[in-house]
Amino acid sequence: MISVQDLIRKKRDGQVLSREEIEFLIGGISSGEISDYQISAWAMAVYFQGMDERETRDLAVAMANSGDVVDLSSIQGITVDKHSTGGVGDKTTLAVIPLVAAAGIPVAKMSGRGLGHTGGTIDKFESIPGMKVEKNFTDFIAQVNVVKAAVISQTGNLVPADKRLYAIRDVTATVDSIPLIASSIMSKKLASGAEGIVLDVKVGSGAFMKNRQQALQLAEIMVSIGKGAGRQVVAILTDMSQPLGFNIGNSLEVIEAVDLLAGDGPTDLLEISLELAAHMMVLGKKFDQVAEARNYAAELLTSGKALDKFMEMITAQGGIIKLNKADRGLKMAAIQQPVQSAISGYVNQLDAYQVGHTAMSLGAGREQINDVIDHSVGIQLLKKRGDYVQAGETIAVIHASQEKHLSDAEAGIRAAYEIGPEKPEPTPLIIDIVT
Ligand code: URA
Repeated sequence: MISVQDLIRKKRDGQVLSREEIEFLIGGISSGEISDYQISAWAMAVYFQGMDERETRDLAVAMANSGDVVDLSSIQGITVDKHSTGGVGDKTTLAVIPLVAAAGIPVAKMSGRGLGHTGGTIDKFESIPGMKVEKNFTDFIAQVNVVKAAVISQTGNLVPADKRLYAIRDVTATVDSIPLIASSIMSKKLASGAEGIVLDVKVGSGAFMKNRQQALQLAEIMVSIGKGAGRQVVAILTDMSQPLGFNIGNSLEVIEAVDLLAGDGPTDLLEISLELAAHMMVLGKKFDQVAEARNYAAELLTSGKALDKFMEMITAQGGIIKLNKADRGLKMAAIQQPVQSAISGYVNQLDAYQVGHTAMSLGAGREQINDVIDHSVGIQLLKKRGDYVQAGETIAVIHASQEKHLSDAEAGIRAAYEIGPEKPEPTPLIIDIVT
């Protein structure tokens, strides 16, 4: 007979758990038979002792099978999905879905809401007036077959073991453990059913993984989990030391993604979106070579076909976006306050975590799972790493709903910028690719 105490003890002492033991544990987490304090103790043991590759794979698969496993076989074509490990200003999903769908590859996207300093894709879509992200499964599949793209909020019973385990990890300082992150992310990807998965593993202050070595470890284990479960998986390590693009906050990020699709987006967002879309097109068997797929993705942007596809998907889900660049019809914050630089010099650092945390404190994100977010608020950056700033020049604009948030937000933005006399060396946006 397996006992939870024995499994906690084994992990505490650095031993390896068998598949049967892991399945027992996940079964007890899902059914509620194992208590919160035993789960916390086990998670802390994993945090300190880690898990080997086989254990991590077994954990991901056991979690994936803890609830509904989505069957996408009625979708015509090879279904592909993408996942970001979470960053600040990361609106790539909004651009990548229509790019890939415009190439004729079906994208059945199930996304989550944000927690902490990183935003969630569903929150961004919900800032579009009228947009419905709750759809029954039959309608979801039907939309993917007609439009080639649909996005819904993750269903109630997708990976219930992760919901409980993540909620406990969140309050017991056990989130940042590579085997726990890898199994949490991959269990949801496996249960979501796509055949091809592109993982955007963020690296830097705004990401879970602060350096390349940790990120590579996470990427390799996630690719191994996916391949072990018979999926095609590619992981791309991308820079998250500063926010992606200029806009942080839900409405602001949708506006920036639409600008990108309309051919007028920031270069870092463009580069990462094209790279992710190209890998998805290769997994979807539209192209053999990533370079060829990338050129095609760029053409879909210039021809306006990707923007048309985005509008088609939004309209199919009741959303309304205006094609007027000056006013996309999204709810904007009542107060827009510029922040000026006190000194002249080059932006040497723009700390993504600090910017994300500041946006969250304005109401753009959630500190607790049940917090209500304000889609209109956020931060618009006017200067990024390497840019020259004159003393008195505006470096960022705070979009706030309440006066009382302004002074802390301004202090947060000032703390994020490090301005100095030397121009910093440019750093690569795409750091590594794991296949
Ligand atoms: N995202 C997840 O879904 N799970 C984690 O553990 C960390 C990030």
